[in-house]
Amino acid sequence: MTIHIGADKKDIADVVLMPGDPYRAKWAAETFLTDAKCVHKVRGMFGFTGLWNGNRVTIQGSGMGMPSMSIYANELIRDFDVQTLIRVGSCGGMQDRVKIRDVILAMTASAVATPSSTIFKELNFAPCGDYGLLAAAAEKAKLMGVDVHVGGIYSSDTFYDERPDLNKEMQRHGILGVEMEAAELYILAARYGRRALSVLTVSDHLLTGEALPADQRERSFGDMIEIALTAAFS
Ligand code: HPA
Repeated sequence: MTIHIGADKKDIADVVLMPGDPYRAKWAAETFLTDAKCVHKVRGMFGFTGLWNGNRVTIQGSGMGMPSMSIYANELIRDFDVQTLIRVGSCGGMQDRVKIRDVILAMTASAVATPSSTIFKELNFAPCGDYGLLAAAAEKAKLMGVDVHVGGIYSSDTFYDERPDLNKEMQRHGILGVEMEAAELYILAARYGRRALSVLTVSDHLLTGEALPADQRERSFGDMIEIALTAAFS
């Protein structure tokens, strides 16, 4: 049991999927896992553990933003000895060829700053996802016929952004999408020698202003969970 995860060590699996929204964790556990049970509810940031194709999996909400992700990922890694952490979430599209509902596999995650910035001092560390997970996820997405993009994303500290100039530079340098958690997850995985990946659905678009209607979000979210689970156990 930790400050933020009120579960016994044995209740958390080696593989953890991390949606930002705890209600997505509940939905994914009820939809994809068998024998799913809620292992804690601290702050309403639910964790569920169950079986997928006979493999034990935990689905734990991360909350929004890197400070929140940092709390849950630190505790999962350091106290629960989790080996594989896969973020499943949404992002804003930043390139014309990236369409609403497409899936992005984040090879790297750029950031202005992360909760780990103070450790690195003047070093501009390059957070990257686990290659084995990335390759397996890309293969599964293609098999499913999902439109998938693999490349760099931007982990921002703001949803309501006031730096259009910075977004322009990201776009000019090929960044596929923007979200708010991946960079710190990748840094923690690197620090502790664990595997991490971010699988993201494009829910809105910075160039077109389009947004995925609420009633269509579930289906896209389901594709991501299937891709993440397959990658975790490949
Ligand atoms: N910005 C930041 N995070 C996001 C966005 C966005 O446009 N869409 C989904 N997550």
